[in-house]
Amino acid sequence: MSNHSDPKNSADSRDAHKVTASAKRELPDPAEGNQSLPPALLLIFAAIICFAGVYLGIYHGGFQGSVYNESESTPDLLSSRKNGAAAVTQAPVELSLVEQGKAIYSNCQPCHQASGLGIAGQFPTLVGTEYVISSEKRLVSILLKGVAGPIKVAGATYNGAMPAWEKALSDRKIAAVASYVRATWGNNAPEISEAKVAALKKQLIERTAPWTEAELLAIPADAAIEGAVESAAPAGVSAATAKTTGAAVDIEAGKAQYMAICVACHQPTGLGLFPVFPPLVNSEYVKGSPERLVAIILNGVMGPITVDGKPYNNMMPAQGALLTDTKISQVASYVRTAFGEGASPVTVEQVAETRKKYGARPTGWTEAELKAFPQ
Ligand code: HEC
Ligand code: HEC
Repeated sequence: MSNHSDPKNSADSRDAHKVTASAKRELPDPAEGNQSLPPALLLIFAAIICFAGVYLGIYHGGFQGSVYNESESTPDLLSSRKNGAAAVTQAPVELSLVEQGKAIYSNCQPCHQASGLGIAGQFPTLVGTEYVISSEKRLVSILLKGVAGPIKVAGATYNGAMPAWEKALSDRKIAAVASYVRATWGNNAPEISEAKVAALKKQLIERTAPWTEAELLAIPADAAIEGAVESAAPAGVSAATAKTTGAAVDIEAGKAQYMAICVACHQPTGLGLFPVFPPLVNSEYVKGSPERLVAIILNGVMGPITVDGKPYNNMMPAQGALLTDTKISQVASYVRTAFGEGASPVTVEQVAETRKKYGARPTGWTEAELKAFPQ
């Protein structure tokens, strides 16, 4: 007896044929298992991973915590590539004193006000006074010990008391706030280092009383604080300041401007972002005529322009309305020292003159116009 002759069995096998036939018409059921990715997708992932690797390779900044802190970072720190004359320094770079001082000024603000102008009859102004912008020794003496009794400031006489800060603020904080008030509201005096504050504090250790006006005026207006043992400044910074001796342009403040304004486009490295933002490194516009650089910052740039051999066609917004002459001189000087192979700094007077000539211009510069600038 065989199953073939069983009518019930043959009906079953016919059904089975039908089922397989219809199953063949369907797409296969989704199943678990290994299937290779579409090659195009693989390529895209590979490219992304490659890009990330290269990017990290260039911009790892030694994996230091401060690298992506905009106010502590520097172009050299961020990029391991050498740019122009600026050598790579891996030393951690600190927040500039002026920047630190801004926060510490909150101690002074209740009396001297955010504007630095004080309150008539009660608190004297800090803008342009012989105690703030003249001798560093006077200012630090005031901050360490305070002032009491009648004092004439900017033509008005005050008779109040300014508290001593040597107990409340560290040497570093006193240096920072002193540097801040010397570099703000149009004041343009050099910063005062922590080492100088420490040195003067030591020299005045015996004194507890606040100063009187007569004592303060007895400190010569150009008296420097002697005996400060400076710790080595980061190489980039000392090179930058060294080049400006003689001209009182605050390059550190310029760096802060750069890190606040230009950095978004020209990048911390000054290398820009091809093909959108041109580099400031190896740019004739940075190291060439200071007047032209100031004109660029004042009015912006538009249209096709070739920088360091590569073409760009974009537009740089004018900064003239946002920045004072002092700030433009600082940022231009920073850019020239950091990216322009140490080109000379730009003075406030040069900026003022350039603004007088071109300040009213409504549009950005074109490449042809920039090329026509006198060198
Ligand atoms: C409690 C109010 C008060 C605070 C806070 C204060 N000052 Fe003063 N400051 C005064 C007064 C009042 C005088 C004038 C003293 C006098 O009349 O003898 C003065 C004088 C000065 C002077 C010399 C005169 C001038 O205007 O150039 C300087 C510089 C100065 N203060 C800086 C500072 C700084 C920096 C801070 C913050 C660390 C600060 N002061 C915090 C009240 C204050
Ligand atoms: C919003 C982006 C942006 C900001 C902010 C910016 N720039 Fe530019 N900058 C550009 C672009 C884009 C160009 C090129 C314009 C073109 O293609 O015509 C340029 C061109 C320049 C040039 C001439 C070409 C070169 O690379 O040398 C200089 C110099 C320059 N910028 C300096 C500065 C300085 C200094 C600051 C800060 C005060 C600044 N820029 C802020 C986008 C910007």
